[in-house]
Amino acid sequence: MTAQAHEENGTGSDYAATHLNGHYSEAEAEQPMLDKVQPPCYAQIIGWGYEVPDRVVTNHDLEQVVDTQDEWIRTRTGIQERRVVAVSEETTASLGTQAARKALEVADLHPARVDLVICATSSPEHFFPATASIIQDNLGLINAGAFDLSAACSGFVYALSVARAQILAGDAEYVLVVGSETLSRWVDWTDRTTCVLFGDGAGAVLLAASDVPGGVTASVLGSDGSGAELLTIPAGGSAAPASLETVSSGSHYIQMDGRAVFRFATRIMADATRQVLDKAGVPVSEVDLVVPHQANKRIIQHSVLRQLKIPEDKVYVNVHKYGNTSTASIPIALCEAIEEGKVAPGDNLVFVGFGAGLTWGACAVKWSVPIEQPESTWWKNTQRQATYQAAAARSMWKRAIRRIYSQVEPRAMARRPVRRPEEEQPTP
Ligand code: ACO
Repeated sequence: MTAQAHEENGTGSDYAATHLNGHYSEAEAEQPMLDKVQPPCYAQIIGWGYEVPDRVVTNHDLEQVVDTQDEWIRTRTGIQERRVVAVSEETTASLGTQAARKALEVADLHPARVDLVICATSSPEHFFPATASIIQDNLGLINAGAFDLSAACSGFVYALSVARAQILAGDAEYVLVVGSETLSRWVDWTDRTTCVLFGDGAGAVLLAASDVPGGVTASVLGSDGSGAELLTIPAGGSAAPASLETVSSGSHYIQMDGRAVFRFATRIMADATRQVLDKAGVPVSEVDLVVPHQANKRIIQHSVLRQLKIPEDKVYVNVHKYGNTSTASIPIALCEAIEEGKVAPGDNLVFVGFGAGLTWGACAVKWSVPIEQPESTWWKNTQRQATYQAAAARSMWKRAIRRIYSQVEPRAMARRPVRRPEEEQPTP
């Protein structure tokens, strides 16, 4: 949707007006293509938010479930506890919706202005529809396209790169990037080699087109499918459709060669960080904060800390609180880093991740927007509530209409007289 169309819809945002002015005016849009001097365009992160389930599962809780010890988990992974969904209403879409909603609130942007929502997830709500479409409906993103992105734990970085490309190509003005997971529903809680590692949660950022230099300035994406079997959910897809046998053998759960993944991860996290900084033209010494995928504290230590010699205070780690939340880990860590005052305008950030596939990715970010969040007034909150209630009502109304059609249409079809071919009128 163009800026003009948004304005006609009365969906302006104070924040967007203040910080973003990289859109074409109507007069510019009417100029012939060759005369049009395009303003430089950047993809800025203007909103962020995260959501984790309330239920905390500590290492000591896991000692009651599998043959493991708090000390083993802490020393081998750095994890102390993780969040786990507790009720059936808590799903990948519900967590993603809450995180995305917070990102919209930080940016003070009306949901109707979002052009695209990408949900990176390894634990989607369904094979289809996309979890992104459910989030789109939940939030009333009535002008947005929506799709899921599957690149395992690298998914958030991949999605950020795609979102940036959409903005730089001029195809989207506002893109929501969500990483959301309920991996606790995909782990075998009797397998100590995997169940201690993962947790649930969601994080989101809102990207906006801007003429303010900075934002997501470079990205590096990679894959090596020869390592596909090192980390996989073997069954449930077209290679091994769900059957009594796949379920009884537990092949619909995560299976992993931990040591091999560890070796790959330590090498690739350092390489990808180096490459993306080269692309962005930022020396390692000028990095202010690395936000790595939070899979294992030792992987972070052996990669960005030791190989790139980036000091500990410039690498954000919160794996002890949440475990590996896959696509959600980087945006959750970014949000907490912001809350703790570790991100400021002018900072050079790197997001770097790895995952099943095997895949890896990194994004360089020049943080360019203020961290202060808009004041939350009673009136603003009421307006937001009304917007989300209207979205819920709209969704219910559309479902109801479809139900009525599905009842009425077959009867109407049955009553419609069948014409013989000779009765058909010739088309003019
Ligand atoms: N508690 C106690 N002992 C355990 C546990 C546990 N939870 N898990 C394994 N062990 C035992 C093993 O059985 C083994 O015993 P053995 O020597 O008698 O055979 C011993 O501990 C050592 O096992 P290793 O696998 O060598 O342990 P390691 O130090 O490599 O740590 C770990 C294992 C934590 C899994 C590590 O290899 C790792 O973090 N790998 C990367 C995993 C990862 O990041 N995966 C996510 C990728 S992102 C995505 O796409 C989802």
